[in-house]
Amino acid sequence: MNIKKVGIVGCGIMGSGITQVVAHSGYSVTVFDINEAALKTGLESIRFRLQKSVDKGKLSIEKRESILAGIRGTTDISDFGNCDFVIEAVFDNLEIKRKVFSELDNICPKHAILASNASSLSIIDIAAATKRMDKVLGMHFFNPVPVMKLVEVVKTIATSEETVEISKEFGEKLGKTVVIAPDMPGYIHNRLTAVLSIAAIKMLEDKIAGRDDIDTALKLGSNLPMGRLELLDMVGLDTLLEGYENLYQTYKDPKYAPPLLLKQMVAAGWLGRKSGRGFYIYDKNGNKIG
Ligand code: 3HC
Repeated sequence: MNIKKVGIVGCGIMGSGITQVVAHSGYSVTVFDINEAALKTGLESIRFRLQKSVDKGKLSIEKRESILAGIRGTTDISDFGNCDFVIEAVFDNLEIKRKVFSELDNICPKHAILASNASSLSIIDIAAATKRMDKVLGMHFFNPVPVMKLVEVVKTIATSEETVEISKEFGEKLGKTVVIAPDMPGYIHNRLTAVLSIAAIKMLEDKIAGRDDIDTALKLGSNLPMGRLELLDMVGLDTLLEGYENLYQTYKDPKYAPPLLLKQMVAAGWLGRKSGRGFYIYDKNGNKIG
């Protein structure tokens, strides 16, 4: 299949990052969000990031303009009627995703592949909301999408080999390295790293070590670009809690049980960088100030 038009559902942190990467690779992209304000924020974040690259001399003004010209924002999902490939990047909640996929199934052309950027859900539960399960799979990107090289392609028991091949090739055209992951909550990466992240939160909760020492130890001891707690703030504590709840419910393994501290922070609205407070405190531009 020759993919020309790509649809992205959701223009939040992940959706806007995916939109940017897809448009950068020369595809025409339609990005949907439910309201104008959310769409505007997402599109502005793309413009902001592209401008930063121009300022650093890493992107030409012409390329920035061609990327922006390739992106069309919409609040009307029926605009996906001519898309060849759609990536859904809404909140990791099964009911919401099933509703989106059912709508996409009715709107998109018969040949279109529908991918979910779910980070912890079983893709078959989402695919079952459509009448084209063979053309549904997971495409799990990592945050920040323009920087992170990995995409997990998640094949369900119903996904066809052809769909997997087309999606793998598409991921590679976006400049990503693709791994084929099992349709089991957490797939490969998040299933492994959840254990480490939960252990880091518990170490803080049990006052075994302080926040900065936990982060410095992991960052420098494993040569990572940032500390684990800092990374959790970047991903979003509500997103992580939803993911851990799902892993725990699925595997019934105590190693995935979400720490009480995480639940309390989410209840308090301390969602990480996006809300100004998580394990660290941030200014309105997302810079760490405490
Ligand atoms: N969007 C786009 N580009 C970004 C970015 C963003 N949000 N944040 C940083 N960048 C780019 C910068 O523009 C810069 O690009 P350049 O090299 O072309 O100039 C480059 O990344 C480095 O940025 P900075 O110099 O500002 O800062 P750092 O060197 O500290 O890098 C970081 C920031 C890229 C976030 C780095 O710390 C990092 O890679 N951290 C780890 C991220 C990670 O592990 N992500 C996975 C999370 S898990 C996940 O996503 C799964 C999901 O299911 C939850």
